[in-house]
Amino acid sequence: KNNLKINIAIDGPAGAGKSTIARLVAKELSYIYVDTGSMYRAVTWYMLKHEIMPEFSDLVLQHAQNMVIELMPGADGQKVLVDGQDVSPLIRSREVNGMVSFYAQIEGLRKHLVALQQHMAARKGVVMDGRDIGTTVLPDAELKIFMTASVKERALRRFKELSDAQGLTLEQLEKDIAERDRIDEGREISPLRCADDAIVLDTTQMDIPQVVETIVSYCRTHTNS
Ligand code: DC
Repeated sequence: KNNLKINIAIDGPAGAGKSTIARLVAKELSYIYVDTGSMYRAVTWYMLKHEIMPEFSDLVLQHAQNMVIELMPGADGQKVLVDGQDVSPLIRSREVNGMVSFYAQIEGLRKHLVALQQHMAARKGVVMDGRDIGTTVLPDAELKIFMTASVKERALRRFKELSDAQGLTLEQLEKDIAERDRIDEGREISPLRCADDAIVLDTTQMDIPQVVETIVSYCRTHTNS
């Protein structure tokens, strides 16, 4: 048994269960979990609060470079702090959901966040989830997973996850998810795309422990531990 740690990249569309799975895989392996979506969300929350619209990309970048974004392990999921303030619940609002794809298209902002993410993974032993991890952030990750599930199944999972569903119907959620997929796949810079060397995992018919077990076993095969 060796203690060699690797980096694991998990990409896929909204609601495929990436963050739940990535967190559990990290726990099982005693790795560090990095939810990159929460970083784009934190920036979006901040810009909306300061009324800086995505059109003003230079201003967005300038503010983003001065924000201190910290990720910390929390009881349920990852906690996100902006300049010391815990914004974890705030970055999951419908306003942020609806706008995050537009900020995520800003090239300079992506470069800035990608550099932070690469720094976090420099010492290995990281499970990172997002859209461009296997293709752009960690192209040398030893294990790359592309997680998918049908739009219907993903909407259903989000629906169950929202405590009060924020007054949303399942149909509205399905539409929101399809729209976010369209923007994330269609953007010019780092679109959501499966890396050539990624393992595709369709989780529509799988439960959480099965998916975690599958990824952990790929990892163990890799490090033969
Ligand atoms: O995974 P999520 O739903 O928290 O991601 C929020 C948004 O951020 C999503 O619409 C796409 C964007 N995103 C991105 O462009 N690149 C990443 N690495 C992670 C998220």
